[in-house]
Amino acid sequence: MLVLGIESSCDDLSMALVDGGKVLSNVTATQTLDHAPFGGVVPEIASRRHLEHLEPTLALALEKSGKSLGEIEGIAATFAPGLVGSLLVGLNFAKALAFARNLPFRGVHHIEGHLWSAFLENEAQYPFLALAVSGGHTHLYYVKDFGSYELLGHTVDDAAGEAFDKVAKRMGLDFPGGPAVERLARAGDPRAFEFAVPQVKGRPLHTSFSGMKTAAMDYLANLEVERHPDLAASFQRGVVRALIAVLRRASEARPVRQLVAAGGVACNGPLRDALAALAAERKIPLVLPAPKYCTDNGAMIAFTGEKYLSSGRTHPLSLNACARLPLGADA
Ligand SMILES: Nc1ncnc2c1ncn2[C@@H]1O[C@H](COP(=O)(O)OP(=O)(O)OP(=O)(O)O)[C@@H](O)[C@H]1O
Ligand SMILES: [Mg+2]
Repeated sequence: MLVLGIESSCDDLSMALVDGGKVLSNVTATQTLDHAPFGGVVPEIASRRHLEHLEPTLALALEKSGKSLGEIEGIAATFAPGLVGSLLVGLNFAKALAFARNLPFRGVHHIEGHLWSAFLENEAQYPFLALAVSGGHTHLYYVKDFGSYELLGHTVDDAAGEAFDKVAKRMGLDFPGGPAVERLARAGDPRAFEFAVPQVKGRPLHTSFSGMKTAAMDYLANLEVERHPDLAASFQRGVVRALIAVLRRASEARPVRQLVAAGGVACNGPLRDALAALAAERKIPLVLPAPKYCTDNGAMIAFTGEKYLSSGRTHPLSLNACARLPLGADA
């Protein structure tokens, strides 16, 4: 089924065409330069830019796929969670297209899209453990089937990506901070500074990054710039160890046929290496999205949308955008 997927939950507008689980095109209009001077995403700017990018992004996605608008058989769009102004732009465009062309429509939860980005090039084996690790989430799910997500644990404060971004900003690095910290860390010693692995009392599958972020800020208060690579490498190692600790515990506690990590932070090289080492140690196959599908993209929304639409699970066009919504909650 040829499905157009639209992602607009934050500062990237991305559209993709997927058919039978195969990505035919994936086009993203980024706004990094618009937000960089502010050191973070400005919601008002994000939604205004999305509006400008809608038509050219669709035109390019169609052109690259070799398909025409008339061939599309279903439309999917992110409806939650995210910046509500940004979500509304992509969602209403999708609903208008579905209405005008009398096509089935499905709203997709952004985190469900991230999780399924791991399966754009791999087959799912249930049950699997899935870590959504991004700018707004550090959530661990037990997935028994498509659409069945049991939340095992989550960060009790900052998301891992958010912690990367805040530490990067304090070091005067580019936005978004994660890739900048990773680049700087290549020249640093990951054992130069101590970052304790956080423990959330009585909740072994929860994690926390605010302590690590505060420790990084404290170290940075009196640190010469020449030592920033050491700090970046040590902080990155701390985040990776915290994520691996919860995944290891979860993988020991129940049967798991695959380990999955997705979301922007899953681009991180040392995290990918540590996940591979954990998977080898636990003898569980590891499934990661290609780096280009870790950050926000339309392909993950089209792919997930096609799974719903091809089995008739549509949403009415009255579906509204929602800034916060746990994965699995009713739309
Ligand atoms: N190589 C990297 N290392 C560490 N973090 C990274 C890397 N690349 C991207 N990130 C982080 O990933 C985050 C962006 O990911 P993503 O686009 O999935 O988040 P989001 O969509 O803003 O949040 P969410 O998906 O939770 O709604 C940013 O915080 C960014 O710093
Ligand atoms: Mg995201």
